[in-house]
Amino acid sequence: MSRAADLITFNEATSAEAFASRFGTPDDATARLLSAVVGQVHELIKEFRPTQEQWRKVIDFLTEVGHASDERRQEWVLFSDLVGASALVEEINSRRPAGATPNTIRGPFFRTDTPERALGSSISLDGIGEPLEVEGRVEDLDGLPIPTAEIITWQANAEGYYENQQPDLQPEFNLRGLFRADPDGRFHYRTVRPAGYGVPGDGPVGRLLAQAGYPLHRPAHLHFVLRAPGFETITTHIYDESDPRLGEDALFGVRPELVRPFETDGRSGTKVSVKFVMIRARPGKSK
Ligand code: BEZ
Ligand code: FE
Repeated sequence: MSRAADLITFNEATSAEAFASRFGTPDDATARLLSAVVGQVHELIKEFRPTQEQWRKVIDFLTEVGHASDERRQEWVLFSDLVGASALVEEINSRRPAGATPNTIRGPFFRTDTPERALGSSISLDGIGEPLEVEGRVEDLDGLPIPTAEIITWQANAEGYYENQQPDLQPEFNLRGLFRADPDGRFHYRTVRPAGYGVPGDGPVGRLLAQAGYPLHRPAHLHFVLRAPGFETITTHIYDESDPRLGEDALFGVRPELVRPFETDGRSGTKVSVKFVMIRARPGKSK
C-alpha cells in the first residue's frame, strides 16, 4: 500500500485516534492519561457541537484561570477542588482500612511554617470569637497511643476568614498551631469557634460556578495534619455537627466520621473531642 493510504484522515470519526497515534510511548502513564483526556474532549465536542465562538469562550475561560494563578493563589487547584476532582484523586489514593481516619484535601490556606505551641495554650492570638476547647487523642488501629504524634491545626476565624486572607486584620499565625501529643497520645488547646465560609468567588472559577447556581459554601470546620514516624501522614478536617449547611460542602470533604458535636455546657464553655487513628506506613504511600 502507498504511504498515503496509511495516513489517518482527520474527521469526526477518527479525531481522537489521529491524536493518540502520535504518541511514541504508549506505556507512559502521562501519555496514556493525556490521550484519554483528549479523547473525552473530542467526545464532548462531538456531543455539544460548539460554534467557533462558543469554543473561543471556553479557551478564554481557561486563559483567565491561568492568569488568575500565581504563587499566592492557585486558581487551577481551586477548579480541581470545586469540581470534586481533588477529592476523587484523594479518595482513590488514600483509601485506608476501616477505623482509620480518612484523608481529605488540604486546601490553599495551610502554612508549612506553623509555630509550635505548648499543650493547653490558645491559638487565638486576638481572642475574638466564642471560646472553644479542643481535646483529642492520636492512636493506632489497636487503640494504642502514638505519643510521638505531631498535630498541626489551622482554621478560619469567627467571621470565616483565615489569617493569610486578612494579613492586615489578623495577627500573623492567628488560629494556627503545632502541638506534640503527650505520652498517652493526647493533646488539647484553646481556640475560638470557626464560622463556615464561602470559597473564593472573585476569580474566574468562582464566577463561572456561581453563575451556574453552584454552592460555594464550606460548613464550619477545623483542619488537621497528623504526623508520626512510621505512620502515614493524615490530612483531614473536623466538621461542626451543628452547621446547618453540612450537606453542601463545596469541596465534598464531609464524612460521617469527621463530624463531631461542639458541645456547650454552662460551666466549661464549648468543647469538641476528637480522635485520630493513624495506620502504619505502607510502601508507596505518603509517609
Ligand atoms: C479550605 O478548607 O480551607 C479550602 C479548601 C479548598 C478551597 C478553598 C478553601
Ligand atoms: Fe478550610
